[in-house]
Amino acid sequence: MNFEKTAIFYLSIKENLYFCKIMVDNGITKNNWKETDISVDSLWLINERDKTGKHANVYHGNFVPQIPHQLISRYTKENDVVLELFSGSGTTLFECEELNRQYIGFDINQEIIDYVNNKMQNSQLPYKLNNCDVTNTSQFNKVIQNNLKELEKPAVDFIIAHPPYLDIVKFTSQESDLSNISDVNIFIDNIVCSFRNALQYLSKNKYLAVVMGDIYKNSEVIPLGFYVMYAIKKNFKVKLKGTIVKNIEGNRGKLGQQNIWKYRALMSDYFLFKHEYIFVFKKEF
Ligand SMILES: C[S@@+](CC[C@H](N)C(=O)[O-])C[C@H]1O[C@@H](n2cnc3c(N)ncnc32)[C@H](O)[C@@H]1O
Repeated sequence: MNFEKTAIFYLSIKENLYFCKIMVDNGITKNNWKETDISVDSLWLINERDKTGKHANVYHGNFVPQIPHQLISRYTKENDVVLELFSGSGTTLFECEELNRQYIGFDINQEIIDYVNNKMQNSQLPYKLNNCDVTNTSQFNKVIQNNLKELEKPAVDFIIAHPPYLDIVKFTSQESDLSNISDVNIFIDNIVCSFRNALQYLSKNKYLAVVMGDIYKNSEVIPLGFYVMYAIKKNFKVKLKGTIVKNIEGNRGKLGQQNIWKYRALMSDYFLFKHEYIFVFKKEF
């Protein structure tokens, strides 16, 4: 064994760790990074949904708590404000409570907003949950400016968004509900509009994450995830920092129908979706 070479190798690792520039203010340091459960891999295989605490999996079209858990832990620190577009059943809010991050959320489904507020009844967490269409610029501005004032914060520190995947799951019958749009171009325009509204409240050099899946329409794959990612890249001064692929497990299995779906796919020419995307961007303006 070449001891000199080995010593130089270890020394350079140590130096790299020491001199590594810290880019994200999330409380992770060279002294505690080994203890963190944050994944830095671009493939997330999550086999079991976290059902602890307030997480109850009651909303068709929700995401697993591990997604906001990972993103919030990676891109924010305690007391930061997380802004969520399309907040749904409160998965991100409940994670914010666990991780001690303040929260501003937007949805247009009053029923699910009531459910979430009910769950948060005895919470000490400073949070705001609004019934507001995120594509309605004047209404959005008014509401979020009010929220920030009440939280005594100048801006938000992270944005997370889990929009409908076009019209594959209908959430409400309201006209403003993006899940009632079936045209891909109109859908993308609305997604861009909602991010334009939200991004002006995110501090420079902070991060935004979008969770999106692909869909089938008219017997072909619509790569909705890539379309959304590209639309955000094209329309805003952001840097793409991550394209994470996450597995989808269980939904059809839960109904005991795996074999039917497998049979249908085999008799046809398509594949069963087992993936969705998480795109992470850094705001550069
Ligand atoms: C995919 S779900 C989000 C689920 C959420 N991540 C959870 O874990 O429960 C999308 C949500 O977007 C909401 N939504 C649809 N159009 C909207 C709009 N224009 N403004 C605000 N929310 C909207 C729907 O009501 C639905 O709750």
